[in-house]
Amino acid sequence: MPQSRVKPLIAGNWKMNGVRSNMRELKRIAEACKKAPKPRGDVLICPPFQVLWPYKEAVKGSPVRLGGQDCHTSVSGAHTGDVSAEMLADIGATAIIVGHSERRTDHGETNVLVRAKAEAVHAAGLIAIICLGETEKERDAGQTIRVISKQLKESVPNGSTAKNTVIAYEPVWAIGTGRTPTSDDIKKAHKALRTRLEKRFGPDGAKFRLLYGGSVKPGNAEEILALDNVNGALVGGASLKSSDFVPIIRAAK
Ligand code: PGA
Repeated sequence: MPQSRVKPLIAGNWKMNGVRSNMRELKRIAEACKKAPKPRGDVLICPPFQVLWPYKEAVKGSPVRLGGQDCHTSVSGAHTGDVSAEMLADIGATAIIVGHSERRTDHGETNVLVRAKAEAVHAAGLIAIICLGETEKERDAGQTIRVISKQLKESVPNGSTAKNTVIAYEPVWAIGTGRTPTSDDIKKAHKALRTRLEKRFGPDGAKFRLLYGGSVKPGNAEEILALDNVNGALVGGASLKSSDFVPIIRAAK
């Protein structure tokens, strides 16, 4: 399948930033996406989950969709402080990020847990954005492809399809640091992920969206988004301001 047939996704991960007053910024993003030229790809913002409900109003009538940043593996029950995929779906999420490196590091999330979370996302009828990526130490040891292949194998459920699953390659050392891999390195990593997806899921593997994440900003978005097998971006810091995020949305061709 030619790359041009895979519709890009530009997703913003607001992390632990977002209260009701930030709705202004979201409205600016939504308004910009209503204007020509319309975004070529899908646009998603994943704010902290407590604002999903009020933020729904802000994106109404625009192509911007909302998502969650994490979920529990269960639908409901005695899990103090947790939120389920069903709950996020109930208040308007269309996708949920799972296995972000900050969750893997701060909360000790393993591939097995990430896979169970992705299954919960699928069961709720939502899109799982499954994150993976090597640490700097692993990269320096030349283990990038080995590490991300293992994460892909173990974190992605068998029932995954190109419709319900997006893979985000985010080198841990590139997140929030202003550093990015070379275009060649991104291409190599994405090619390796593509090959493994095709091997496991057949022709559907060619259609999974592979996002790059880690210090994407207006100045590098065009180059990164034009690379083979890069079907969008997962953007942290630069998704918080419309003046940064809108040019990134527009860079997706
Ligand atoms: P960054 O974060 O764009 O701020 O590097 C990306 C992410 O963590 O998803």
